[in-house]
Amino acid sequence: LKITIFLVIAYLLGAIPNGLWIGKLFYHKDIRNYGSHNIGATNALRVLGVFPGVVCMILDIAKGSIATLLPIWFNIDFWNIKPTMLIFGIMAILGHSASIFDHFHGGKAVATSAGMLLVYSPWLFVYCFSMMVIMTLLTSMVSFASLFSFTTVTIIILLIHDWYLFPLAVILTIFVYYKHRSNIIRMVHGHENLIHYGLVYWH
Ligand code: G3P
Repeated sequence: LKITIFLVIAYLLGAIPNGLWIGKLFYHKDIRNYGSHNIGATNALRVLGVFPGVVCMILDIAKGSIATLLPIWFNIDFWNIKPTMLIFGIMAILGHSASIFDHFHGGKAVATSAGMLLVYSPWLFVYCFSMMVIMTLLTSMVSFASLFSFTTVTIIILLIHDWYLFPLAVILTIFVYYKHRSNIIRMVHGHENLIHYGLVYWH
């Protein structure tokens, strides 16, 4: 029972739609009606501004991190702490992407997955975060940066032989591509939403 309760807590933590609530509470804007219509940090930044966007990103990362830390803090261990942590991280990612507070819609799983990675493997997090920043600066497309980071970090995880993380990374990457399907279509047609902090504009 204890495990089930904590898994539900991890889901609910992930389900907190930071971008949506920050917009509604402080800016009286439903960010689902603007930009990419997503509730993630990128669209919060695009629609609300840099400060709320960064706050949303930090909170979305924190959700994934806190959920992943729950088994350590509360001594929950299925058979090995590492996969247990990942399962709790997955619950938060699930909450973020299919939120009970947003009619089971939600974000694109990027920041919350990063939060899980931050706890599970800080170095991989540093890699992903740097790639997000560099690729976004180069292309002005957070979506491209997200897909690039997920794809390359999965290859790195394969190369370092983390057999707990690798299958999850493959599934997550497929899921993230699926969640970005409209972004991919826009990229192919050359009219993906840009954020205006990049160095190079594609059109
Ligand atoms: O993290 C989501 C990002 O990769 C894309 O966001 O709002 O441009 O669809 P958005």
